[in-house]
Amino acid sequence: MTDLNILTICGSLRADSLNRSLANTLPELAPEGMSFTDAPSFADVPIYNFDIQSEGGAPPAIKAIGSAIRGADGVVIVSPEYNYSIPGGLKNAIDWLSRLEDQPFVGKPVAIQSAAPGMLGGARMQYHLRQTMVFLDARVLNKPEVFVGQGKQKISDGRLTDPASRDVVAGQLAAFASFISTGG
Ligand code: FNR
Repeated sequence: MTDLNILTICGSLRADSLNRSLANTLPELAPEGMSFTDAPSFADVPIYNFDIQSEGGAPPAIKAIGSAIRGADGVVIVSPEYNYSIPGGLKNAIDWLSRLEDQPFVGKPVAIQSAAPGMLGGARMQYHLRQTMVFLDARVLNKPEVFVGQGKQKISDGRLTDPASRDVVAGQLAAFASFISTGG
């Protein structure tokens, strides 16, 4: 299998995040040759405003994330659901990224994962994110989907520990490797 360099974007900023923990577990569940790099943080990116963009261009963090996406073979977005949708910070970062000249998501393989304390594991967020990715012309993996519901029972000490969930994540990463490599 060819080496694959995957960029991880986490939609949660908090230190003890379930989604950060899920993202941190990916390397141990990945197929051989797949490696992960965290995207630069979007924590300090101002709310998108065309005036800011016209005056000074995109914030440095957005340019850095854009370059990291362009340089990656694929992107895994691991995010919570906020109010049945995409967390504002992540959506804001995507809005800025969408305005870059060489829009970085075009044709980019993307896989989506989410974790939440509730039963649905962030599923509703995923379908909104898929909709956004359609507009950005990303190539989003359809299945397997990864929803880590009841995440507080399945994630501990900063790692995904639940065996069944680990299998699902490993299955998605294997499918993602093939999706990227075959252009499928
Ligand atoms: C939430 N949470 C939540 N959970 C869910 O399953 N569906 C939802 O719509 C929401 N809405 C929501 C809004 C806001 C503003 C917050 C702060 C939280 C709960 C959320 O899943 C939980 O706090 C997760 O632990 C957040 O993810 P991280 O930070 O642990 O990765």
